[in-house]
Amino acid sequence: MIESRKEDHVDICLNEEVEIKKNYWDEIKLHHQSAPEIDLDDISLKANFLGGRLDAPIVIAGITGGYGGAAELNRGLAKTAEKMGIGFGVGSQRAALEDERLRDSYELISDHSIPLVFGNIGAPQLISQNDEEPFGVQEAKKALDMIGGDYLAVHFNYLQEAVQPEGDTRAKGVMNALSEISDHVPTIAKETGAGVSSATAMEFRDAGVAAIDVGGMGGTSFSAVEYHRLKDERKKKIAKDLWDWGIPTPVSLIECRGSVSLPMMATGGIRNGVQIAKALSLGADVVGIAGGILPEIDKGENASLQYIERLKEELKITMFLLGCERPKDLCDIDKVITGELEAWIGRR
Ligand SMILES: Cc1cc2nc3c(=O)[nH]c(=O)nc-3n(C[C@H](O)[C@H](O)[C@H](O)COP(=O)(O)O)c2cc1C
Repeated sequence: MIESRKEDHVDICLNEEVEIKKNYWDEIKLHHQSAPEIDLDDISLKANFLGGRLDAPIVIAGITGGYGGAAELNRGLAKTAEKMGIGFGVGSQRAALEDERLRDSYELISDHSIPLVFGNIGAPQLISQNDEEPFGVQEAKKALDMIGGDYLAVHFNYLQEAVQPEGDTRAKGVMNALSEISDHVPTIAKETGAGVSSATAMEFRDAGVAAIDVGGMGGTSFSAVEYHRLKDERKKKIAKDLWDWGIPTPVSLIECRGSVSLPMMATGGIRNGVQIAKALSLGADVVGIAGGILPEIDKGENASLQYIERLKEELKITMFLLGCERPKDLCDIDKVITGELEAWIGRR
């Protein structure tokens, strides 16, 4: 059941329209410097994030695992992360925690030397749904052990749960459950496309997470993904109306940065190196990428390596044109925020 859902998600993302129409990173403009006074070759993309020494401030965000074809995808993604020296997160490990036979597509990650590895479980599974026993500290530890992971990403995907027919929609007590897990296992809190508000960021901090992935609106829409899975016309209409629900990724990043001092990952709509520079300029420590790399890894490992190479090169050129030698320098640059994004930010 979970296996076929995970397979559906990958197939739908590869073959159907699932993106938010507007990419909010496009509404940020960076101020060009004609005489940058640095050499392109001196620019380093190296970044430290949560103890991981990355060759570039990029993490492959959680995508998949737990069904036949997932092993090949995860192997290709793990090799890409290893060769590129970037972080890597597996998709939800729920299937393998419920059925040991489904561990293979996750366990293979341990064969690779990746500077930062994230496990993944859903926040809704930390509380009882339909009278089932919720996941607790034991399952959280098992999930990390399964992949030799550094941090467990606890994903908050209540938009998706609410629009899908078999969704887990109980959320009362979820922060306490996160706090209990975080007392025993290193965690990050991860949204999956609707963004984290400043109030929620403070609750995440109080629950003891080590970092936040703001996972904002602007890239893959999980209401859109579920829209394509739904058969019932009434439910389809609801998923369509909620297609672009959420806080745009740059807005969520600004809100979270302004309210807590935790390390931040910006996932949601990152498709090129210029957008990575924009995210770093708003205070992200690293970016996460899912929808951009999926069609590449589907073509093969070479395509996904070339994709990350291109992102790195674009980021380097962008930094050169801004006079920034290190990713951290991007924080100080001039930027202009336009359009709808300006209205979002101006309201605060
Ligand atoms: C096919 C697919 C499956 C995903 N599955 C998971 C998952 O199991 N757990 C999770 O935390 N996020 C999952 N995500 C969400 C991504 O990690 C990411 O937050 C989201 O896609 C937004 O980033 P993007 O715009 O770069 O795609 C998935 C994304 C895709 C495209």
